[in-house]
Amino acid sequence: MIKTKRFILRDYREKDLEDHVVILDNFEVARWLSSSIPIPYTKRDGRKFIASAINDNVHKITNFTLAIENKATGKHVGGVKFFGLQKETEIGYWIGEEFWGQGIGYEVLAAMIKYGFKTGKIEEIVAQTAEDNEASKAILRKAGFKEAGEIPKEYARPSNSPSMSKDNSEINSRGGCSVFFRLSLIKWKKHTQPAKKKTIAKKTLAKKTMAKGK
Ligand SMILES: CC(C)(COP(=O)(O)OP(=O)(O)OC[C@H]1O[C@@H](n2cnc3c(N)ncnc32)[C@H](O)[C@@H]1OP(=O)(O)O)[C@@H](O)C(=O)NCCC(=O)NCCS
Repeated sequence: MIKTKRFILRDYREKDLEDHVVILDNFEVARWLSSSIPIPYTKRDGRKFIASAINDNVHKITNFTLAIENKATGKHVGGVKFFGLQKETEIGYWIGEEFWGQGIGYEVLAAMIKYGFKTGKIEEIVAQTAEDNEASKAILRKAGFKEAGEIPKEYARPSNSPSMSKDNSEINSRGGCSVFFRLSLIKWKKHTQPAKKKTIAKKTLAKKTMAKGK
């Protein structure tokens, strides 16, 4: 289990089904995801997903998928996933549309990155998004990721497409993801440390100012 300020990232439970299906049976969420998330998304799909997530997390070899739960309300609001836990590991995430824009995506991404690097198994985290997925690109950049050219063949997978229509008639079989991002352990340390230094510098300045005022 991973704790953030407002959320708990924990294994999926069967009782997440209702919320999970509401989150993913939404074109505005699913169109940015891989085609393993069908549109429309049914309870049957949800049951399968939750069973695999629970099973995979026992070994954390193929996938490591966590449900995001609001500490205060107990509400399941989204999910986050490492595609395995190896030297170079891909991350994926989704938040229910009703919860967008509250900083949840970034809070969860930052906590997952920290957890991933702390396992000692991951040296670089990668992610792929659609060019038009501004929110996803924003949280990746904020977390320290940098664009890294085209998606390598080994990461290519069929995606739902942001340009598809709601009735699936315009499914783009090449998939919607076209931008690849990378964050190495070294770059992540550099990205997170300046903030710490700034905080220390601010505290020191505040102490000096207080001392002068005495
Ligand atoms: C991507 C996603 C997880 C973001 O979740 P969220 O909780 O809304 O994210 P946050 O509130 O932490 O941050 C969103 C950021 O995107 C920015 N953003 C949102 N829409 C934007 C737009 N159209 N243009 C530019 N920036 C945008 C916000 O300003 C915010 O950045 P800021 O913190 O610097 O202001 C969520 O939109 C989602 O689940 N989308 C559908 C699934 C998906 O796209 N998954 C990722 C596949 S790669």
